[in-house]
Amino acid sequence: MIVTELIEKKRYGEEMTEEEIRFLINGLVNKEVEDCQMSAWMMAVCINGMTDRETADLTLAMMHSGDTVDLSDLPGVKVDKHSTGGVGDTTTLVVGPLVAACGGTVAKMSGRGLAHSGGTLDKLESVPGVCVEQPLERFKQIVRSNGIAVIGQSADLDPADKKMYALRDVTATVKSIPLIASSIMSKKLASGADAIVLDVKTGNGAFMNTLDESKRLAEQMVRIGESLGRRTVAVITDMNRPLGMAIGNGLEMKEAIDVLKGKVPESDPLVEVCLELGSQMLMISGLAENKQQARAMLHEALVSGRGFEKLRTMLIEMGGDARFVDHPELLIGASRIIPVYPEKAGYIGEIDAKDLGLAACLLGAGRLKKGDPVDPAVGILMNKRYGDRVGENDPYAYLYVNNEDKLDEAMELISKAVVITDSEPEQLPLIYDIIE
Ligand code: URA
Ligand code: CA
Repeated sequence: MIVTELIEKKRYGEEMTEEEIRFLINGLVNKEVEDCQMSAWMMAVCINGMTDRETADLTLAMMHSGDTVDLSDLPGVKVDKHSTGGVGDTTTLVVGPLVAACGGTVAKMSGRGLAHSGGTLDKLESVPGVCVEQPLERFKQIVRSNGIAVIGQSADLDPADKKMYALRDVTATVKSIPLIASSIMSKKLASGADAIVLDVKTGNGAFMNTLDESKRLAEQMVRIGESLGRRTVAVITDMNRPLGMAIGNGLEMKEAIDVLKGKVPESDPLVEVCLELGSQMLMISGLAENKQQARAMLHEALVSGRGFEKLRTMLIEMGGDARFVDHPELLIGASRIIPVYPEKAGYIGEIDAKDLGLAACLLGAGRLKKGDPVDPAVGILMNKRYGDRVGENDPYAYLYVNNEDKLDEAMELISKAVVITDSEPEQLPLIYDIIE
């Protein structure tokens, strides 16, 4: 096969065969297809799309481009949960332990922060000592004894996605439903889960900004999962504001611990999304018959502290220093805490979640370029939510700062991201839809 012919085929919007797709993906990994050729092909996909059949074939080709993990020797239904990327979205650290406390088997491989969105591995590493690179057997041992472990993907899991993602990041080809769906689902399938609950974010802080696009992405991923024999459900949730109050790794770990210690009301949006995702995980695992039963189980795991114990044990088994888990205020020891005031009294009428995420990156909570170190102690702690009233002297956020190099830039971004209005804004839904 000739690579340029395949690029041309997609350029003219034709449907490609399974062999052609496999040839491109294997060629990329074996360096027989040049990065520039792959980029051109992906741009053609962005513009002309792919059929369901092509997207499923692409997903399979990517999944088989490297190692696949076999979890079949672990008991029960192995359930995974994946978010398409959000800001202040600490759900994995809350819902994973709660589901494990209800008898679920959560063997999860997570990623690092991507662009403005946070990543679970960076949050886990905010606890000194935690090692997210665990050998597979050790990972399974923790899952067997504790019901949950969350580690990094092995270097050879889905190498096609690693290359494609890096190219997409720099060629404006991230935003494409077939490319996002195959990127996420190939990793989920390669990491061995039987059942997958997807948290598809929608809004200004998500990769998909409109509800219609988010729904189409969710439906595409559910179809791929189901067609390959994995029970798959997607929950579409709001990302027109940070989900929790914390943006930053130690701050988010502390928020997750606070939730699991019952210090945050169950009406809180972060807790509400966790209870919805957790219910879906319990139902898809066959551990609860309906949502009412699932909710009751999760509530019990929360108030009894059994969920917290699961997180605590996991962190310690992965090398974490228990003092930081038991005294999470130690996680947020930035040298300066700077209040941010509104320019006038009013309501928090609009929040650009993406810009808040980027501001946290500027403070050092995320990466501005690949491989940058992150500072676990820094970030943004919101003091007000979307829709709250603020007085002139009420800080709506606190910045946790160590390095002040980009502080002014971060401040500017935040004051642009948070719009103060004279009248109370419309309520936003938190959960838009569930796609089964
Ligand atoms: N997350 C992924 O893993 N891949 C994408 O393409 C987008 C978000
Ligand atoms: Ca402003």
